[in-house]
Amino acid sequence: MTQAASTGLETTPTVPFADRLLRALNDGALCLMVSIGHRTGLFDTMGRLAPATSDEIAAESGLNPRYVREWLGAMVTGRIVEYDAASGRYHLPTEHAASLTRAAAADNMAVFAQYIAELGRVEDDIVHCFRNGGGVPYEKFTRFHEVMEEDSGQSVLSSLESHILPLVPGLTSRLEQGIRVLDLGCGRGRILQRLASLYPNSRFTGMDLSEDATAYARTEAVGLGNIEYVARDLSDFDRTAEPDAFDLVTTFDAIHDQARPLNVLKGIRRTLKPDGVYLMQDISGTGHVHKDIAHPLGTLLYTVSCMHCMTVSLAQDGEGLGAMWGEEKTQEYLRRAGFGSVTVNRLAHDVQNNWYVVRP
Ligand SMILES: C[S@@+](CC[C@H](N)C(=O)[O-])C[C@H]1O[C@@H](n2cnc3c(N)ncnc32)[C@H](O)[C@@H]1O
Repeated sequence: MTQAASTGLETTPTVPFADRLLRALNDGALCLMVSIGHRTGLFDTMGRLAPATSDEIAAESGLNPRYVREWLGAMVTGRIVEYDAASGRYHLPTEHAASLTRAAAADNMAVFAQYIAELGRVEDDIVHCFRNGGGVPYEKFTRFHEVMEEDSGQSVLSSLESHILPLVPGLTSRLEQGIRVLDLGCGRGRILQRLASLYPNSRFTGMDLSEDATAYARTEAVGLGNIEYVARDLSDFDRTAEPDAFDLVTTFDAIHDQARPLNVLKGIRRTLKPDGVYLMQDISGTGHVHKDIAHPLGTLLYTVSCMHCMTVSLAQDGEGLGAMWGEEKTQEYLRRAGFGSVTVNRLAHDVQNNWYVVRP
């Protein structure tokens, strides 16, 4: 495929653009293979092994040798794995393993590559929505809660104690003394479980639309007596939230994809005690596409929004705010929900999120 043939355009300025698209094609394909490398444990195996042949890597991983060889082809041409043609051995350099293996803990980028495959799963449904409107429901994203759990397990849990809790002065001592905490849109509930085990004097409630995710959370929380998970639709939370009940409410990446985000925020306002605090993690964007061009994750986030966050909300007959609703609109929604004070924080290591500390 020549560049001229691939673009169908003949003016010279299209050549760099065609190059950029070629890179995008290679990188898009690479993301699928990185996701497979994560799920099959191939990166973890290679991170432990000295340079090895394809068959040795397959044997060590317990995987089909023919598939492993083809995967290694993508890894070598994608400059992830090094190959020594003389010995026929493949090697995952230590500095690459630091971003691709479970040993990398908070820095494992392979976790996020799984979203590309997860979005690809619903492409037909999304095309249907482009033509007919409507949305794609959560049930179609068969691995969503599993991947989200891994995602927040890295991006939130890794800095929960060091960076996130300290955003609210005095919070950890209140948690130590014993307060009531509510996490909305809790998914599989890992963040709440960590908090419940760190702070046994406090009581924790997680709520989420998904029966599956909350059932999973319950099995993971066995042995913790201070935590409960409730499956419920929060669309009417403005009317149904227990008044003045909680000292701390949290949402981690869970407002913009609600069916009725404003109702959820009004419910949070209603359920917070007068001296309570609401800690909200949501996507950092400007809400203006011309400014979001500079966002380091702009394309990824608009894509995830279109093919997941916006569409799952529309599938509930919801507002479909989208992940890139932006800081201005977030502030506006918080004001409309009745909150009096909002502080916006950014964490140095987290380009994806804003952290709002909100009070009645
Ligand atoms: C992006 S996920 C975040 C999950 C979790 N907070 C985390 O960080 O791992 C958003 C969550 O909102 C939940 N959700 C979406 N619409 C909802 C609704 N109408 N009522 C309650 N939860 C809802 C989804 O089931 C999903 O678990």
